[in-house]
Amino acid sequence: MSQVVVISGHPQLESSYTNKVILQQLSNEITDVEIRRLDMLYPDYQIDVAAEQQALQQADVIVLQFPFYWYSVPALLKKWIDDVFSFNFAYGPEGDKLKGKDFILSFTIGGPEEAYTPTGYNHFRIEELMKPLEQTAYLAKMNYQAPIYTHGMVYIPDVYNTQEQVESRAASHANKLLSVIEQLLHEPKNIIKRFVAEWFEQMDRLPEDSGYFKKYLADDFYMNMPEGAFNGISGFEQWYEFARSTFKPDCRHEIEQLDVTEQDGEHHLSFRVRVIADTFAGESINLLVNETWRLMLNQQRDIKICDYKVDPVVS
Ligand SMILES: Cc1cc2nc3c(=O)[nH]c(=O)nc-3n(C[C@H](O)[C@H](O)[C@H](O)COP(=O)(O)O)c2cc1C
Repeated sequence: MSQVVVISGHPQLESSYTNKVILQQLSNEITDVEIRRLDMLYPDYQIDVAAEQQALQQADVIVLQFPFYWYSVPALLKKWIDDVFSFNFAYGPEGDKLKGKDFILSFTIGGPEEAYTPTGYNHFRIEELMKPLEQTAYLAKMNYQAPIYTHGMVYIPDVYNTQEQVESRAASHANKLLSVIEQLLHEPKNIIKRFVAEWFEQMDRLPEDSGYFKKYLADDFYMNMPEGAFNGISGFEQWYEFARSTFKPDCRHEIEQLDVTEQDGEHHLSFRVRVIADTFAGESINLLVNETWRLMLNQQRDIKICDYKVDPVVS
């Protein structure tokens, strides 16, 4: 799972002067980034929708990195959007798979800044030209970030710019993008999402030692489970013993629809978990539960869970 997924929409990255530099810098400077080069993955434009959707679902921050072509995205990236942002994935009654993710458009523009003004030869501001993509983000309930773009990025020897000029603008562009990504990754919402993913990775394993879990419990921790209520850290230990004696390790917890809201310094989480497990009694379990947690995140970024409530989903 990568926190940051970058979709490279350049149709021929080998011949790029600027997108190539930006992507290289991202891959050097972010530890947890997945760069998906559409030109390499899909030279025939046949997008593997399931693979793309899976990569997006696992990320907190989604970046579309592309050269500005005909006032929009290159055809390969448009095809990617058309195929991947499908019904019940990005929109529709169950189409909330991208909800709450940060969405950044990062692109390089050939023309100069002054051309993109009401009196310039391109008439419209860049932000206006990006409205269809901005609305796409809103429909998918993503957090649309201010786009990051740089003008004067076309290099045609002896006609426009020098290679050094466009490469140095690309390096500044990458620095700007990196600082926005860094800031987003340090937002409480994203810290908490990563924590929940890690918590359930540990729950999948059900280690004998419950120390990992206990360090995140508040002293007055309260757990309300279908099997009963449990108080404090000793209550958690009791429940954990029950879980370990019921479920075999190497089970699966799939998190869906995670929503984090903050109120009076506390964070309220609501999400669904699909639990897929085998029991020692020989049963195979596949059940869906609703979870609501209340937790505290302090200045040092320490997390303490106060309330932990699990209800089976009844259809
Ligand atoms: C097919 C095509 C369409 C383009 N359309 C525009 C455009 O509408 N506006 C603009 O300012 N530059 C336009 N450009 C210039 C590109 O934005 C510029 O070459 C690109 O950002 C440089 O990126 P690269 O070095 O990674 O290839 C276009 C270039 C191509 C090849």
